[in-house]
Amino acid sequence: MTTTIYVPRDAAARSVGADEVAARIASVAEARAVDVQIVRNGSRGMFWLEPLVEVVTVQGRVAYGPALPSDVESLFDAQFLTGGAHRLFLGATERIAYLEKQERLTFARVGLIDPLRLSAYEAHGGLRGLRAALAMPPRDIVEQVVRSGLRGRGGAAFPCGIKWRTVLGAESLPKYVVCNADEGDSGTFSDRMIMEGDPFVLLEGMAIAGLAVGAEKGYIYLRSEYPDAERALVAAIAAARQGGLLGVDLLGSGRAFDVELRRGAGAYICGEETALLESLEGKRGMVRPKPPLPALEGLFGQPTAVNNVITLASVPIIFDKGAEFYAQFGMGRSQGTLPFQLAGNVKRGGLVEKAFGITLRQLLYDYGGGSASGRPIRAVQVGGPLGAFLPESRFDTPLDYEAFAAMGGMIGHGGVVVFDDTVDMAQMARYAMEFCAIESCGKCTPCRIGSTRGVEVIDHIRAGRKSEQNLTLLRDLCDTMTHGSLCAMGGLTPAPVLSALQHFPEDFGASPGRKVL
Ligand SMILES: Cc1cc2nc3c(=O)[nH]c(=O)nc-3n(C[C@H](O)[C@H](O)[C@H](O)COP(=O)(O)O)c2cc1C
Ligand code: SF4
Repeated sequence: MTTTIYVPRDAAARSVGADEVAARIASVAEARAVDVQIVRNGSRGMFWLEPLVEVVTVQGRVAYGPALPSDVESLFDAQFLTGGAHRLFLGATERIAYLEKQERLTFARVGLIDPLRLSAYEAHGGLRGLRAALAMPPRDIVEQVVRSGLRGRGGAAFPCGIKWRTVLGAESLPKYVVCNADEGDSGTFSDRMIMEGDPFVLLEGMAIAGLAVGAEKGYIYLRSEYPDAERALVAAIAAARQGGLLGVDLLGSGRAFDVELRRGAGAYICGEETALLESLEGKRGMVRPKPPLPALEGLFGQPTAVNNVITLASVPIIFDKGAEFYAQFGMGRSQGTLPFQLAGNVKRGGLVEKAFGITLRQLLYDYGGGSASGRPIRAVQVGGPLGAFLPESRFDTPLDYEAFAAMGGMIGHGGVVVFDDTVDMAQMARYAMEFCAIESCGKCTPCRIGSTRGVEVIDHIRAGRKSEQNLTLLRDLCDTMTHGSLCAMGGLTPAPVLSALQHFPEDFGASPGRKVL
């Protein structure tokens, strides 16, 4: 009898030795003449348990982890192929609390199946969304996405259906779908995990987007730092063409949609949609003024739907289970789920897909288990390098786009980076300005010059030089950047800087009781 063993091929698992563990299992099995089939799956997203080895037993899938190559002999000795007791034994995978309490819609299949087998994808609900969409006129596809409440998961949270409606209404042909897979935000990895762990769901979402807006060609703009995702996408695109998920005859419908993969060159600004389009056209990644909107004049001047990986990967389930099913998750105008990503100084880092409305505190402590250092959590940055730093007093805010905006924060792509009480928030504010200075595309003065001056001014404040005057200057500078920048790179850099000043004035040399804002 063959026993199936899952060992993730996800980059995070590989970085801590998953390949070596898989190879060791294969060699020990051979030496002991045991019949095993090793499937390289996506990660379940519990990074502190990687490499996580799962075995299919009569009681279902059970997990062992984190497993080192040196643990493999003892796992065989402990009869792990039948779920035997071992110090790494974690029980049934699905019952691990971190996973059990999640609401996995977009990530429903990640970790469950071989990500590159289209038949496994289909057996687990894949392609049902595309089949449903193929039976609908474009306007109905768009309206279903509007009704689902799906908003862009790349950062700006713009309603996806409204964007698609604009592209559908544009007359010029051809039209394009562009998938933004640049994933440059600090502490984020959900795009990567989908591309490595369930790439077909992204391709299916892109095909549905193509049907909705009238595009037959899609591009994935992938960040250069993701070689594993690139390999997975290349293989998945080939399998999808062979299986009719892409090509000139989608699932035998006579409709066409194909996808081309393009790799970026490693610039944060190329995640901004207009700079991305410039880069895709072979030019330097510089931000374009808006209008015109990319929906009307995007790639090569043609109507283009630019969407984030998670936005597109969330589309198939909306057509499989219905807009109302998806919209019942979440709160207010934040409908559906978001794969939150816990990173930084946190004990249990990883991916948590939950409906909007969960609080930061629940994420940080119920899932994250507090800081990795064991010290109190002092600050959290949500939404990437342009997101505000939040103190403990804000941890009960529900993760909802509007609730976060109301307190000057943003959810963005759902990255949550944790800092303990040893963090120097003035240094973090300086880092935010420095990041902007390094990554600025240089097109507009407030961002290009302002960020460099910002670093200098913060250095003066940290050194105690003319603190009062320099604090006033810093606030003025932030005001200019907020209101005078062409895009959100310069426009939002003041958010981490000012939030650090507001919530942690003592780190800038002011006494805790004294407001510096
Ligand atoms: C500086 C900057 C960097 C960005 N980086 C990304 C990114 O890496 N990935 C992404 O999907 N969106 C990124 N965005 C947002 C995109 O401009 C755009 O809003 C998004 O791709 C639209 O897709 P969505 O509506 O599905 O979110 C960035 C925006 C800015 C201003
Ligand atoms: S704000 Fe910065 S990144 Fe954006 S256009 Fe201006 S210089 Fe370029």
